[in-house]
Amino acid sequence: MQGHAGVCLERYREFIERGSYKVSNSDDVSCFSVLLQKEVAPGVEVRLGDIMPSPRLNRVFNDPLDLLVGGWPTPLLKIADRPREAYAKLEWYNPFSASVKDRTVYYLLKSVGGDRLVEVSSGNVAVAMAAVGNVLGKRVKIYLPSAGRYVTPFLDFLGAEWQVLDVSMTVEALEHLEKDIREGAVHPNQFGNDINFVAHLRTAAEIDWQLSSIGKKPDYVVAGLGTSGHASALGFYFGVRYGAKLIAVQPKDWIPGIRRVESGMKWIGLVPAEIVEVSLAEALQGVRDFAKKYGLLIGPSSGAVYAVYARSGRDGIYVLVFPDNLFKYSSLLQQL
Ligand SMILES: Cc1ncc(COP(=O)(O)O)c(C=O)c1O
Repeated sequence: MQGHAGVCLERYREFIERGSYKVSNSDDVSCFSVLLQKEVAPGVEVRLGDIMPSPRLNRVFNDPLDLLVGGWPTPLLKIADRPREAYAKLEWYNPFSASVKDRTVYYLLKSVGGDRLVEVSSGNVAVAMAAVGNVLGKRVKIYLPSAGRYVTPFLDFLGAEWQVLDVSMTVEALEHLEKDIREGAVHPNQFGNDINFVAHLRTAAEIDWQLSSIGKKPDYVVAGLGTSGHASALGFYFGVRYGAKLIAVQPKDWIPGIRRVESGMKWIGLVPAEIVEVSLAEALQGVRDFAKKYGLLIGPSSGAVYAVYARSGRDGIYVLVFPDNLFKYSSLLQQL
């Protein structure tokens, strides 16, 4: 693998395995400055505790980005006891796109300059980038595949420019960015920028911090695949730290937010993963079953993750990542 995560992966492995790392050369400095999101000097011993969240007990926030970062950790909800104990990470508690993608976009936009941004997205990145772009005073243009049309009213309210393309997959829209990039727009690139993967090593550390507080460590992580950013990073972190297994979920046909491995994704090859398939009907049944049992309306890709857990026969402790909830899909669901 090329790029940042390629150079840093073995260093991150040692850091996660041991819980600390002595920074010595310039590659160490660059790897740990990105992971810790602050300048790290040679000679410093960095610790896992440095990437754990620092929650704000009074829930008073100074600005919208402080609301995002100071709001972490997002909740971890226990949904089942032994023998298949399970904890759901509720990522719609992020404030901008009400999804896991607030994290990716926050770190992506910290990593790039420019005052005009262009990106491809099928939904959550579009909303998150338009929102965080507004906070940072950047103009945002988004290209969407046809299935992403349902978020265009949100983009209008946020004042972002958008174009819906006659393609079925988000990655197919990538070639349409070239003209904007030639004209000076910056492409943060959720599919190729390793900060996406690194951002979710921090999400993994956050979950580790939460589970450790109740004396637990996971045996299985179940997560959906889009860019593969969050599933791969969580699989890597919990695999290295506790030998946990990643169960990565791809759609049999079509499920908003996730796609099939063969459509190309950068990070899933970094970790051993069991790839499982879920149909749209099974994912929506997962949404229905979860709503009936727990009263929460989870999104379609969360429904897919829940469906995989529900049909798994293996005992152990599970972490299920629920990327968003159902509310922004209401217009889409009416068409199904
Ligand atoms: C609802 C939903 N689920 C799952 C994913 C997959 O996340 P990742 O891109 O980290 O693989 C996305 C990504 O856009 C999403 O929006």
